[in-house]
Amino acid sequence: MHELIYTSVANWDLSTQELTELLDQSRIKNARLNITGILVYHDRGFMQLLEGDKKAIFELYDTICEDERHTSVQLFWNGEIEDRSFEDWAMAFINTSEVDLGKLEGYSRYLEDGMAALNLTGNESTGREFLNVLRESYLTTA
Ligand SMILES: Cc1cc2nc3c(=O)[nH]c(=O)nc-3n(C[C@H](O)[C@H](O)[C@H](O)COP(=O)(O)O)c2cc1C
Repeated sequence: MHELIYTSVANWDLSTQELTELLDQSRIKNARLNITGILVYHDRGFMQLLEGDKKAIFELYDTICEDERHTSVQLFWNGEIEDRSFEDWAMAFINTSEVDLGKLEGYSRYLEDGMAALNLTGNESTGREFLNVLRESYLTTA
């Protein structure tokens, strides 16, 4: 099992409808590819975690890199993992403009400076902690 995390910047301020389209498209394809993960949208910045078969993930990543909806794609971390962190989600999604950010208090610096400032290398990194807080605070498996 492999995991990959990248950040990027949207080429324009994507509307709710555009984000919904992106997610619908992603969830169908990810389910087919047995890929799970989370996509965070904050202030025109994306952070996405993909988990699944290594080859499938990198093929998808190559496709995502070419997507005209965003730019400045930066691969932050990839590595082997024992278990999925987002096994219940073909692609979980959090738009920070739609959630109560109170639960992210300790992370305000990253929300202000952009998620690219998160450190995403290693298991104890702030980036991973941030993702865990997002999962525990905002995601439900309905
Ligand atoms: C920020 C961002 C995240 C994306 N995440 C996914 C994803 O998780 N899964 C997916 O299939 N497509 C995702 N896409 C869309 C892909 O870039 C691509 O449009 C889609 O996979 C369809 O590609 P295809 O028509 O070549 O199969 C994402 C696009 C952007 C801009």
